[in-house]
Amino acid sequence: MTLRRRGVGVRCKGAARLGAAGGGFAASGSQTPFEGRVGQSRETLPETQSRKTLPETDQIAGSARNVHLTPWREMCRRGDTRGSPRRALIRGAGTLAVAGGAVLAWGHFEAGWVRLRTLEVALPALPDELAGMRIVHLSDFHLGFRSRATRAVERAVEWTEACDPDLVLVSGDLLSRPRGEPLLRELLSRLPRCYAVLGNHDFAVTRDPFSKPAALEDLSPTVLLEDSAATVELRGRRVQVVGVDPRSHRLREERPADLADPDADLRILLCHFPSAVDRVPPGAFDLVLAGHMHAGQINVPRPGGKIRLAHLGWRYAQGLYRQPGGVLHVSPGLGTTFVPFRFFARPEATELVLVPGE
Ligand SMILES: [Fe+2]
Repeated sequence: MTLRRRGVGVRCKGAARLGAAGGGFAASGSQTPFEGRVGQSRETLPETQSRKTLPETDQIAGSARNVHLTPWREMCRRGDTRGSPRRALIRGAGTLAVAGGAVLAWGHFEAGWVRLRTLEVALPALPDELAGMRIVHLSDFHLGFRSRATRAVERAVEWTEACDPDLVLVSGDLLSRPRGEPLLRELLSRLPRCYAVLGNHDFAVTRDPFSKPAALEDLSPTVLLEDSAATVELRGRRVQVVGVDPRSHRLREERPADLADPDADLRILLCHFPSAVDRVPPGAFDLVLAGHMHAGQINVPRPGGKIRLAHLGWRYAQGLYRQPGGVLHVSPGLGTTFVPFRFFARPEATELVLVPGE
């Protein structure tokens, strides 16, 4: 009786509250499971029943909360999900996206950030009249490929016009796509005393899926050299330029030394590939100019140098090399291939100033 009275009393209190709140529920007087649970107070249950049911259930639930819930789950339970793995994943992905965007933005910027450099090149047996002779070496325009590098090429041409050098020599990869040809011809027409060879990209002989052959032939007023030679008189001396066709170079069929004029006062070999310097006999040429390497284009700095991703197996990357076949200059080039980015490989136009010396 005690139990029922106390249960009813509790139920009535609950029913009164529910009735006030929702109306009509307690008036039915039915013993719903809900009412029964409310009506059973812990103090009025027999001792044995109390230990078997409510207290133990409460202890187990309390124990689970205290021991098995991880901190973030506990935070979730409280409505605080700041430290959850999902939020950490979203935050990490966001950080990566921002960092990746910044890296790509830099690569895009660097592709157009042309360096205009003057290098002194010591050549043995250089006639006095040719001391101080200036050659601007340009390479790898890759026009027709949408990239900020096009701006680098235009800036290099403006600078070359202002330099007004004795010679302008262009070492191939003029176009990546035929649609760049009108701009190429306009730019070449502004270069004084210009000689050029083609590169592998001009024939789309490359793994670059964006490259298309251009079938370039006459580039007047620029003189296009394809396994041929031209001689120009400068400062009263004869300067010969021999140009290699990239197709014959790849087939190892080129013979530029056969075209070298022994009576010329200065002999220059122009080839897209730097390895040309290893295929000519010593003394055949004084100067060898090449491109192709893009200075690695995508470089990863590391202690003691760079990992040059564009050409992992490189022997000549950029700059000057003194070899038995002649003094080699490898241009970093101006354009981009595969992707419109450069990292730690700024495009460059180089003015070579010849001086006598070893
Ligand atoms: Fe190139």
